[in-house]
Amino acid sequence: MRRAMAPESGRDHAHAIAEAAHAWWTSNRGGSSDRAIAVGTLAALALCAPSRPDGPDYGPLLLPLDDEQLVDTLRAGWNSFWTYDPDLTEAARPLHDWLSHPTDNAIRGLAEYARILLRAGLLEYCSDTARAEADDVLGLLITRMRSYSERQSTGEFFTPAVVTNFMGDTLFSADRKPGDLFLEPAAGTGAMARSAAATMRFFGTDPALYHWWLNDLDPLNAACCAVNAQLWRLGRQVTVSCGDALNHPRLLEQAVRERAERATSKQKARPVLYPTTTRPPFWPWNFVPPS
Ligand SMILES: C[S@@+](CC[C@H](N)C(=O)[O-])C[C@H]1O[C@@H](n2cnc3c(N)ncnc32)[C@H](O)[C@@H]1O
Repeated sequence: MRRAMAPESGRDHAHAIAEAAHAWWTSNRGGSSDRAIAVGTLAALALCAPSRPDGPDYGPLLLPLDDEQLVDTLRAGWNSFWTYDPDLTEAARPLHDWLSHPTDNAIRGLAEYARILLRAGLLEYCSDTARAEADDVLGLLITRMRSYSERQSTGEFFTPAVVTNFMGDTLFSADRKPGDLFLEPAAGTGAMARSAAATMRFFGTDPALYHWWLNDLDPLNAACCAVNAQLWRLGRQVTVSCGDALNHPRLLEQAVRERAERATSKQKARPVLYPTTTRPPFWPWNFVPPS
């Protein structure tokens, strides 16, 4: 039913999800405070979506959860991502750090918020590559949750999908060599990479054959890049960093190398990032053994 009711185009679907999320958050949690929790919850559920449109429907498992159980399910989702890619999970930390010690106020109403996202078709959107790559649902929500003056202070105006798609078509329709690096030093939440990957797929090239490096000065934007890299199926050769790429690009190179090494050894020592109390520690891939 949720699949049948979804807006026909992926872009309309992304806008409908972001709109529903923002509407619930502003009327139930008041304004745009706690935006890391609003965006982080959406991101964790997005990562839990099956990887194919004909994959299992997790809706019946998620819809009945209460706040406490939902929080544990989000923790389990990040645990799975931690097993899969510790470095990207570190890059995404601003989206999930609050799960280590959430206050009662932080988790108030989250199960209802999750139901809004699920009923808007978030899982169906993310499990279908053609939909997920049509727009940037995380970027759309972040933009709605930041005031105009906040965005003005950092020049944070993400390029609309229709424009990045045009740029993607112009720049990436020509043959590229597998292994080439796509580098976005001021990536926002990754709008340009989304269009580049979509254009590559349209011309029959797998974006996973390329290297991607997305950087942004804002930690929450960079965290969204790490999740978007998954949603847009950019592959395993993705680096996400947070820093000043315009003034100190060399410092970034060193920082990402060190963080990747730290994340890998930390994951070995601590296979479960967030212990869970009401759910198995890994979800939805319960079978993933700690590495
Ligand atoms: C106009 S937005 C463009 C974002 C994205 N490239 C797009 O087209 O949607 C500019 C972005 O640059 C980031 N930014 C500003 N100064 C930066 C710096 N010195 N280093 C890295 N990122 C920076 C901001 O946080 C913001 O997300």
